[in-house]
Amino acid sequence: DWTMGAYRDQAIAAIRQQVGDGRVICALSGGVDSSVAAVLIHEAIGDRLTCVYVDHGLMRKGESEQVTGMFRDHYNLPLIHLDESDLFLSALDGVSDPEEKRKIIGRLFIEVFQKQADALGGAEFLAQGTLYPDVIESVSFSGGPSVTIKSHHNVGGLPEKMGMKLVEPLRELFKDEVRELGRELGLPDHFIGRHPFPGPGLAIRCPGAITREKLAILREADAIFIDQIRRHGLYDDIWQAFVALLPVRTVGVMGDGRTYDYACALRAVTSVDGMTADYYPFSHDFLGETATRIINEVRGINRVTYDITSKPPGTIEWE
Ligand code: XMP
Repeated sequence: DWTMGAYRDQAIAAIRQQVGDGRVICALSGGVDSSVAAVLIHEAIGDRLTCVYVDHGLMRKGESEQVTGMFRDHYNLPLIHLDESDLFLSALDGVSDPEEKRKIIGRLFIEVFQKQADALGGAEFLAQGTLYPDVIESVSFSGGPSVTIKSHHNVGGLPEKMGMKLVEPLRELFKDEVRELGRELGLPDHFIGRHPFPGPGLAIRCPGAITREKLAILREADAIFIDQIRRHGLYDDIWQAFVALLPVRTVGVMGDGRTYDYACALRAVTSVDGMTADYYPFSHDFLGETATRIINEVRGINRVTYDITSKPPGTIEWE
């Protein structure tokens, strides 16, 4: 007779067993996964856990303030906020290959955490909210040939030289199970219901080379899209929604003038676990209203498209 309550107790026991009297730093992204992992580990080992939130310059509008604010105000977890945007964005300068982006971001995350672990006097464990689908998707297409689809930035083990061991208490769980575990741990519903956000952040929603200018445009458009979804009461029906800024500019007309600005794609899907997904069937009114708002309110975008690809054959993210 399997319940989430029993799973929680078992997971806490396993964390205590693995960590002993060691110290853990936890990569807190603000997503459900890392938050549940952090709260679970905190229950297991208390203040021998330190959470680290790294702003890699690829977060959404207002996200860093929201996440660190929420954890400071509502949870009694030791939390360090690092702004490493210069480090990440300069390393990504001119890089357009998706796998290269992922690898750079993954490598820098490890470097930043290693440095932070040293600064804390040596933590021997690094915690991550890795889920089961992350584990299998970065290894192979299930049932098919062994092909890497995407290198998830938070999977793949740590380089030997890092000398840290991974704590991944959610490694056997699917997303809906993590949400159930989060409820069991008393996390608020609005937090448990947050859409997933990938570790590499906006880097993989900005195909082609990333610039600060493109990121700024993307943030504004994305915030409007999410606002529209909330206003229309659709947020909880959707697994994930975001804007991808396309690396192409197109000609438009506004008032009496010609525009030559970026095109963007809206992406919204339903899914149970992120392994397969269907595009969300928005009404034409919703799509039209959202396109109008984005074009009127965001400088730098003059064309909006809607991505109607399911997974497979598409993936949810664009890269
Ligand atoms: P794809 O694009 O592979 O995404 O269909 C499936 C789910 O995984 C998320 N995703 C990631 N999450 N690190 C993460 O933590 C990553 O590197 C990563 N790549 C994709 C994606 O947002 C979707 O929910």
